[in-house]
Amino acid sequence: MGKVLVTGGTGYIGSHTVVELMQTGLEPVIVDNLSNSLMEVLDGICEITGKQPLFYEVDLKDVTKLKRIFQENQFESVIHFAAYKAVGESVEKPLLYYENNLVSLINLLKLMSEFRVNSLVFSSSCTVYGQPEELPVTENAPVVKAMSPYGNTKQIAEEIITDAVQAKMIEQAVLLRYFNPIGAHPSAKIGELPLNVPNNLVPFITQTAIGLREELKIFGDDYNTPDGSCIRDYINVVDLAKAHIAAVKRMKESAIPVEVFNVGTGNGVSVFEVVNAFQRVSGQDLNYSIVGRRSGDVEKVYADTNKANELLGWKAEKSLDETILSAWEWEKYIRLKDQNY
Ligand code: UFG
Repeated sequence: MGKVLVTGGTGYIGSHTVVELMQTGLEPVIVDNLSNSLMEVLDGICEITGKQPLFYEVDLKDVTKLKRIFQENQFESVIHFAAYKAVGESVEKPLLYYENNLVSLINLLKLMSEFRVNSLVFSSSCTVYGQPEELPVTENAPVVKAMSPYGNTKQIAEEIITDAVQAKMIEQAVLLRYFNPIGAHPSAKIGELPLNVPNNLVPFITQTAIGLREELKIFGDDYNTPDGSCIRDYINVVDLAKAHIAAVKRMKESAIPVEVFNVGTGNGVSVFEVVNAFQRVSGQDLNYSIVGRRSGDVEKVYADTNKANELLGWKAEKSLDETILSAWEWEKYIRLKDQNY
């Protein structure tokens, strides 16, 4: 059974991917410094899969400790999620973001090279496209100047990985450009767990509905879109997790050094449509008000998913309603379950 190193494996997307790996018969090994996740996530994973994955509480910036993990395990691939991801915070603390997101990656690539671990799946983001000129956006659209240090770390990381593959330090990489991941595992045992005030739309909605926040602020209704609010491509987190399994398989079957894939649904959905879907599926009335635009928001972006559909043999399957309901079920579960959360 192949071991797969999952960095950031107790995080939101990481934990869902760990579950999918285990259910496909692969053996994930998690490394996470718990800077933005909790150890309890391992219990959720165990409740779903019946097994506890191997877990190391290690910071990827600590190359000595990371090396020990490579010495103790023989990995067939690495899936690299671990990174800081708050756009606003990255503007305030750029060096923290560059150091954390890039030093971690460099350490990982050095060790992959040393221990001959040849394939890498990297968490990138549709943020690399900025506001695309043509929608749906394909992987061939230009990468534009990043709007935040966070976005820039994704662009630079894509380049670092590509250079490392070119130099044959590792053989292959798949860069997955995520659109907007939302929702939770259908069991409601794992989900998104913002440790501070959420920046993202769906966790803010569910926290408002459960009474943790007073109201949702909708950032702008004067965009050039049918209802005036921004349009995004909201992808179910379990569907997204499955794209990682497809990427690991793809590298076993193809010899292409670096491949880039959009991971989205292909559907553009507005903020008002998300709010309405939430009210419909949850039966809750949501307090919200409309405020000014948030700086740095693009007006609309959604994916052309043909490349992923054809070459990865992967497709988003879950509906928006089902996905939003899963986020709500998770919110209710987690608030009831444990005061620690
Ligand atoms: N929104 C609100 N109110 C909120 C939060 C969000 O109206 O309280 C709106 C935003 O303005 C945007 C939409 O909801 O129109 C989605 O916002 P998110 O913050 O959930 O998602 P973003 O598309 O802004 O962010 C995503 C990723 C980031 C990435 C960014 C790049 O979560 O990691 O895309 O575009 F950097």
